[in-house]
Amino acid sequence: MLLNRFEYHLMNNPFRAALQRHVEARRLLRMGGPVSGGRALEIGCGRGVGAGIVLDRFGAETVDAFDLDHRMVRLARRRLARLGDRAHVWTGDASAIPVPDETYDAVFDFGIVHHMPRWRDALAEVWRVMKPGGRFYAEEVLRDVLAHPIIRRLFHHPEDDRFDRKDFLAGLEQAGFIPVASRETLRSMAWFVADKPPTY
Ligand SMILES: C[S@@+](CC[C@H](N)C(=O)[O-])C[C@H]1O[C@@H](n2cnc3c(N)ncnc32)[C@H](O)[C@@H]1O
Repeated sequence: MLLNRFEYHLMNNPFRAALQRHVEARRLLRMGGPVSGGRALEIGCGRGVGAGIVLDRFGAETVDAFDLDHRMVRLARRRLARLGDRAHVWTGDASAIPVPDETYDAVFDFGIVHHMPRWRDALAEVWRVMKPGGRFYAEEVLRDVLAHPIIRRLFHHPEDDRFDRKDFLAGLEQAGFIPVASRETLRSMAWFVADKPPTY
């Protein structure tokens, strides 16, 4: 689902970038450690701040990134151009990722899955494109905050079948992931690290 005008501006400013870099990424890094080489994907990349973090903080060798909104993709391409072949950005939908099975060593979700009406499909799709032994890092917005009257007035999100931390963990397990760590802040935000089991 595309962002409304209010959230679009909330996502595209230096404060959001600082929050992502210094709070969200730092927390995910503490919980799940670095990627250290390998091929990473960011779903719903917005203007590309997260994809840069995946390379320079998590240590991935390359990053692919996509977003449903072509305006975000244009901003992300501009931001990541300096990285040349290490970053590739396209317009796309996380419920049908146009890459073969078992492509990525790590996948990142900085607050996009709660924008998807069928969020379990996104988790299944992330699982499909990850290599066995790969790691999924997710930062998500929870049901209670989305249901708040002020948030409902200001933002535009799907309303049915939203998740709390337990639901998201159950969704991860249903998709085939093994949760490694999860944290929650004030029943509003949650962070998850989950692995796709290796094949032996
Ligand atoms: C809350 S913003 C987060 C953007 C960026 N990840 C960040 O942290 O700044 C959610 C993003 O997900 C994108 N999005 C929503 N539904 C999507 C979908 N089905 N597939 C891909 N991107 C989607 C939106 O266009 C938006 O850029």
